[in-house]
Amino acid sequence: MRAHDVKEILIDKEEIRQRVDSLVDEISKDEHGDNFVMIGILKGSFMFLADLLRSLHRHDVHPRIDFLTVSSYGSSTVSSGKIDVVHDIRDNIAGADVLLVDDILDSGRTLAFTKEMLLKRGAKSVRSCVLLDKQTNRAVEFEADYAGFPVDDVFVVGYGLDYDSLYRELPHIAKVTFLKEGDAE
Ligand code: IMP
Ligand code: MG
Repeated sequence: MRAHDVKEILIDKEEIRQRVDSLVDEISKDEHGDNFVMIGILKGSFMFLADLLRSLHRHDVHPRIDFLTVSSYGSSTVSSGKIDVVHDIRDNIAGADVLLVDDILDSGRTLAFTKEMLLKRGAKSVRSCVLLDKQTNRAVEFEADYAGFPVDDVFVVGYGLDYDSLYRELPHIAKVTFLKEGDAE
């Protein structure tokens, strides 16, 4: 792991809380039918999905929940371009209105691939919700239906997002600053 720090907070926990509520207001206004399934893409989405769900409670919306683990990153901070389903959903999603939830939309490959896969399995609709959107970094054409905050093309951690499996526990979004050799940590 390169020498780095995560001291710079880009989005604090109160901003996240407010934005989660406003995203949920949008989601619950839109059509979601009786067969509504929220699918979190692990591991990065676990905290965001939990907060979305708690907030949905205010609107009396009752989705089913499932999780899908895909991997596109090794321990590097650059996407490998290849997506593997490491752990699949358990439920049949034929006929369901699906809301895919992910931490961050970057190259777009993860969500483009997953959406396509679920539509092929017969989902009635597939929408997506991401906390963060690195809008300038797409390798494939993809836009989320609900996006919390735009972020610059920097590496970020916290609120579920990791750098080499660390920092998922931070309650805010922080920037990873890579230190030059000789800089004090
Ligand atoms: P995409 O397939 O390139 O859109 O990548 C989405 C996935 O890349 C996310 O679910 C994250 O796991 C990971 N990712 C992209 N950018 C970052 C970042 O800045 N910090 C942590 N993970 C990231
Ligand atoms: Mg992820």
